Amino acid sequence: PVEVESVQALAASLTTSDHIPTRYIRPEAESEPVIILGADEDDIPVIDVRKLLDPELSDAESSKLHLACQNWGFFKLINHGVPEEVIQRMMFVVEEFFKLPLDEKMLFKHPGQLDGYGKLLLFSDEQKLDWVDILYFYTSPLRLRKIGLWPTKPSTFRDAFDEYSMEVKKLANCLLGFMAKNLGLAPAEMARMLENGAQSVRINCYPPCPEDKKVLGLSPHSDASFLTLVLQVNDVQGLQIRRNDKWFPVKPLPGAFVANIADALEILSNGKYKSIEHRAVTNAEKERFSIAAFHGPNTDAIIEPHSELILEDEPLYKSLDYESYMKLFYASKLDGKNFLGRMKL
Ligand code: SIN
Ligand code: FE2
Repeated sequence: PVEVESVQALAASLTTSDHIPTRYIRPEAESEPVIILGADEDDIPVIDVRKLLDPELSDAESSKLHLACQNWGFFKLINHGVPEEVIQRMMFVVEEFFKLPLDEKMLFKHPGQLDGYGKLLLFSDEQKLDWVDILYFYTSPLRLRKIGLWPTKPSTFRDAFDEYSMEVKKLANCLLGFMAKNLGLAPAEMARMLENGAQSVRINCYPPCPEDKKVLGLSPHSDASFLTLVLQVNDVQGLQIRRNDKWFPVKPLPGAFVANIADALEILSNGKYKSIEHRAVTNAEKERFSIAAFHGPNTDAIIEPHSELILEDEPLYKSLDYESYMKLFYASKLDGKNFLGRMKL
């Protein structure tokens, strides 16, 4: 098999009469039913963070958050407090980085490292490939940061990345505090787990694909940590969540974040909150970018159903320290909720 190093370069080299390499063709991309939403239709809950933080409105908004976590596992966040300039600067460096010539981007490919430019999680020469190029970094705590591997082009890359990841982490911690309370867990207990919590950021660049219906930008998967906050950078639709055995599109809402429950929170809550399988599809004409920030506890924390949350129930999941848990995750192929299945008792 040909090792394709950059989907962007592949996409740029295709002429209109070319077929895309078979390693990218995914029959399931076309065969599984997708919900078609009308222009004004959108059921995914929207949570207003300003209301959550307003003493008068907090209880009502927090109940709404609890329902969103139980019934959807996915919701949008408005008035989230991450400054617009911080988002703009991040979007700028992301777009500029991916505009660099391939040989310059390749300088930031680090074989054997998760951090850097390239592909994540290739397990075999036969494995089907996702139509995406990725830039991935650990951002918190500082001890996990490999700053020397971060791009220096554009020149504001590192500053923008640092600033963005810190702001988004504050937002994630705030939401996780409300979720802990809603689950019946002392917020101080959640704060303890989140102290020096691990955060990593993955930037997805989905080049336009001439046979967009036949490929997947990102294979179906659930995320590993507690909570993921995604910025859909441009107005191109691509993210879909599995709901009632159909794929449900998450429309971009300008300025909003998309939040989703990930596996470790499903485990902590002993299944009261469920991590939701999602995937990304591509677009025939437009490039699409998304920035996903993953938030977990500190690496020593134990991932297990919390004792305060299973007073009357049997634990449904095993117990593992977060560092080993993440190692196991990275050693598992992205495949629906396959990884979480391995954590079930
Ligand atoms: C993901 O990171 O799971 C996909 C996010 C997206 O492209 O919208
Ligand atoms: Fe994801």
